[in-house]
Amino acid sequence: MFYLFKYFIQMKILLNNDDLNKALNKISNIGFVPTMGSLHKGHISLINKSLKESNKTIVSIFINPTQFNNPKDYKNYPRNLKRDISILNKMNTDFLYLPKKNDIYSSKRKPKIKLNKTDKILCAKYRKGHFEGVIDIMDRLVSAIKPKKIFMGLKDFQQLYLVKKFIQNKYSSKVIECKTIRDKNKLALSSRNLLLKRTELIIAGKIAKKVILLKKKLKNVKNIDKFLENKKKELNNMFNINIEYLELRNSFSLKKTIKVKNAKLLIAYYINKVRLIDNF
Ligand code: PAF
Repeated sequence: MFYLFKYFIQMKILLNNDDLNKALNKISNIGFVPTMGSLHKGHISLINKSLKESNKTIVSIFINPTQFNNPKDYKNYPRNLKRDISILNKMNTDFLYLPKKNDIYSSKRKPKIKLNKTDKILCAKYRKGHFEGVIDIMDRLVSAIKPKKIFMGLKDFQQLYLVKKFIQNKYSSKVIECKTIRDKNKLALSSRNLLLKRTELIIAGKIAKKVILLKKKLKNVKNIDKFLENKKKELNNMFNINIEYLELRNSFSLKKTIKVKNAKLLIAYYINKVRLIDNF
C-alpha cells in the first residue's frame, strides 16, 4: 500500500541514515522542521517559513520514545502518517526524514544529557526525563542533518528555550522562534488537541481566553504569587481541570518574576487525561 502511495509522491522520503547522508551530502542552507507528526497549521507555518528562508527544507517525523515519561502517553500519541505525507508533498517540502527507532538509537552513544538544577522547573519538574529525551533526540537529528536553521514553535516555550541553549552552544545551526498558531477560540494548535472531545476543545479555548485576561490583569496586581495561586484554584474548580503550574517567568532567563514586562505567563494542565501547555 505504502509503495503504491509512494508512486504519487514527489517529495523525497528518507527512511534511514544512508538515505539521509546521500540526499543532503552537497546541500547547503538546509532548513529543518523537527516534528512528531500529526501535522497541523502550527507545523505548516513552520514549514512555510523554512521553505521561504532555506534552499531545501527537511521535515522529520519521529515519535521519540525517550521523551515520554509515561508509556501510555507514548502509546496514545496521535499517529497520522499517510495524511502527514500528503500534506508535506502538497506543500512541496523537499525531504521527509522518517527514521525508525534503530536508525536513531543504533549508535553506541548513550544519552548523557543532564539538566541544570535551575532548569528543573515548569514541565521539567512534572515530566521527569522529558527534556533530557528532547535534547538528546535534537542533538542526534541536528548532528545527522546539519541544518543552517531549525524552525520551532513558541508554544512549547520551555522546549524552545532549552533546545536553543543546547544546540546553539554545540552547533552552528540557528534555532528560529516561530509564533504560536491558535484556532478561532484562541486555543494553541497542538497534535494533542486530536485527543480531546469537542466539548473539551471548547473548554480549552475558554481557558486560553481566561489566561490571556489574567496576563493583562497582572500589571495591577501587588502579590502575583498569591494571585496566581488563587486563580489556579478558581480555574480548576470552574473547568474541572488539574493545573500543574500557572507561573509568571522572565522570557529570557525563565526565572520567576513579578515584572510583567518581558515575562511569560505559562500554564500546564490536565483536561480529562490529556496534558496541555500554553504561554502568553
Ligand atoms: O515538539 C516536538 O514535536 C518534539 O518535542 C520534537 C522537537 C520534535 C523532538 O522530538
